[in-house]
Amino acid sequence: MVSTKSLLLAAFTTITATYAAPTKGPCKSLTPTLPSTGGDDLVAPSPTARLKKIAIGHGIQNYTCSGPDATPSATGALAVLYDVTTLYPGLSKTASLSIEAFNSLPHALLWDRPVPLNRPSNSSYSANTSSPFPSSHEDLKGLANCPALKYAGHHYFDSTGTPTFDLDAIGMKASVLKTGSVSAPKDADRGVLDTGAVAWLRLTDSGKGMSKGVNLVYRVITAGGNAEGCGAAGVGTTQSVPYTTFYWFYEE
Ligand SMILES: *[C@@H]1O[C@H](CO)[C@@H](O)[C@H](O)[C@H]1NC(C)=O
Ligand SMILES: *[C@@H]1O[C@H](CO)[C@@H](O)[C@H](O)[C@H]1NC(C)=O
Ligand SMILES: *[C@@H]1O[C@H](CO)[C@@H](O)[C@H](O)[C@H]1NC(C)=O
Repeated sequence: MVSTKSLLLAAFTTITATYAAPTKGPCKSLTPTLPSTGGDDLVAPSPTARLKKIAIGHGIQNYTCSGPDATPSATGALAVLYDVTTLYPGLSKTASLSIEAFNSLPHALLWDRPVPLNRPSNSSYSANTSSPFPSSHEDLKGLANCPALKYAGHHYFDSTGTPTFDLDAIGMKASVLKTGSVSAPKDADRGVLDTGAVAWLRLTDSGKGMSKGVNLVYRVITAGGNAEGCGAAGVGTTQSVPYTTFYWFYEE
């Protein structure tokens, strides 16, 4: 859960966004601004970066262990993405939420729905390796009484291990590298395995020429996703831990 404190402590950097707020009047403060952890923060987008989308992602973080006392190493992630842009305060006359309600959506989604991946029937969280994503691209309906959230795309690691966001529903793609990481706030949702929330990340274009319309991505307001200890998870197998988060997509 995100505390009021971390929200109040948010450092507001004005962004020249696609969804620009009015330049005068009380609504100016409603310009979308990246959330702050309340402690260390990621390098903010440049003043000319344009916010293209805010998506909520629901999926799994994968880890492997080389031994019972080893530290689990991250091997990738899979998630389905849904568009929450118009729920951000001030971006829609009818759909927008308060900032508190908006930032509670990853928590709500993590606990309210099963991971939206194809799973072997006997397994709780792992995904089908040959075909992890459902072929039907369904919208996310009825979450926290919100209007249906439009399916936006998928997040996965490509064959070279590069984190990729394929926003096929809106014709954008991001192939990225991690260029910043800060711990999630202490009071972040620890997830369904009580392992803690994955770090907040800054991800920039991989330079592989595969991105389209997006070249800067932030992972913020994470819930769950941290690894179990290697003793608990077993050596040599992939452990898959459910997580949710927001991804903020920019072009700069
Ligand atoms: C994984 O998906 C493929 C293709 O849909 C299917 O043939 C296979 O049985 C699935 N495997 C498991 C373990 O569910
Ligand atoms: C699930 O079933 C497969 C195939 O029968 C088996 O290899 C695997 O170990 C099982 N997984 C669990 C968590 O029981
Ligand atoms: C993550 O693990 C799942 C099994 O739960 C597997 O299907 C998938 O291919 C793995 N993906 C990555 C990127 O490691």
